[in-house]
Amino acid sequence: MNILVTGGAGYIGSHTCVELLNAGYDIVVADNLCNSNIKAVEAIKRLTGKDFKFYRYDLLSRDDMEKVFAENEIDAVIHFAGLKAVGESTQIPLTYYHNNITGTLILMQLMEKYNVNNIVFSSSATVYGMPETVPITEDFPLSTTNPYGSTKLMIEQIMTDVQKAAPKLSVTLLRYFNPIGAHKSGELGEDPKGIPNNLLPYVAQVAVGKLEKIHVFGNDYPTPDGTGVRDYIHVVDLALGHLKAIEHCSEKPGVHIYNLGTGNGYSVLQIIEAFSKACGKELPYQIDPRRPGDIAECYADASKAKNELGWTAERGIEEMCEDSWRWQSAHPNGFDD
Ligand code: NAD
Ligand code: UD1
Repeated sequence: MNILVTGGAGYIGSHTCVELLNAGYDIVVADNLCNSNIKAVEAIKRLTGKDFKFYRYDLLSRDDMEKVFAENEIDAVIHFAGLKAVGESTQIPLTYYHNNITGTLILMQLMEKYNVNNIVFSSSATVYGMPETVPITEDFPLSTTNPYGSTKLMIEQIMTDVQKAAPKLSVTLLRYFNPIGAHKSGELGEDPKGIPNNLLPYVAQVAVGKLEKIHVFGNDYPTPDGTGVRDYIHVVDLALGHLKAIEHCSEKPGVHIYNLGTGNGYSVLQIIEAFSKACGKELPYQIDPRRPGDIAECYADASKAKNELGWTAERGIEEMCEDSWRWQSAHPNGFDD
């Protein structure tokens, strides 16, 4: 099976490429490297000992993307490519809507033209907005609080509408919780540009001495220690969820929706403690005010993916922090080291 991976040089995409190649799939990667590094593509090849075609193309260029479809017989698409910074999306919403939505429309038009009937899409737990209770099941009400989240929800809707009109199409919407961790080798990991917005990369950069201390956004939430609780999932477990989705949903027409999370919630302070253990030193932190728009708790009910895909996340929080530390300490400046 030949799979087109859009955004395959990025954090989750690169880990998924490794697992796809290891499992014997053929892949073709298209990525414009706007938020990633060609060294990630080299690392995928090195780690797997396998070669594949890499196109440094922008999804917004229909002509370029058409070459990818014309030159390769694609059986399925895994669609990671997109912009993902929540804060930035509120500053430059048009860029986010254009990149994420127009890019998806062009991709799906080409799939239609070249008769490709399987797509797996990177959605997010952000489509649950401010959930009233936890754990979150797939049938919870959907809403969004920022343009990034809105692009995810709109793309889910677009894909659902396209599927209705094209009954042969298999659409799988994977709603990720909070991916962290890195490949065991320490050669592949998250490499955010600038100061990280998300907790784990921030903690990792404090641990490696690039940032001074962690800012804990609020300790007055209704959670056991007052700090925010999230469902952190090892990026390799997440990657393996995509293989299960391809295996079980390809050639099964319809819209298939799954939460990919562990079902466990960890607080900010628990994460700081686990990472301190992994890196062997106490990490300095201070309590700051809440970050606007944050919710107290967010974790998945992951039983649908378990029952229908036979997938569960197997790696615990210690392993997530150890693997993240191995990558960060070997590459303090990410792929540029
Ligand atoms: P990432 O930024 O590391 O990877 C996205 C990749 O897409 C990058 O390599 C980027 O260069 C590429 N890209 C963006 N726009 C493109 C375009 N127009 N044409 C070609 N390539 C383009 O992000 P990630 O963390 O690996 O996330 C992958 C997907 O999963 C994204 O769609 C993201 O919204 C979604 N997601 C991520 C998280 C998370 O916490 N990391 C959570 C939920 C959902
Ligand atoms: C973020 C995104 C969300 C996306 C999710 C998964 C925001 C506002 N939301 O959510 O859309 O789906 O990632 O990638 O960015 N925290 C600190 N200090 C920090 C950073 C974070 O205390 O420096 C806390 C937060 O308040 C939260 C937890 O750590 O309680 C996790 O934060 P983060 O990693 O940004 O993820 P989410 O808030 O879940």
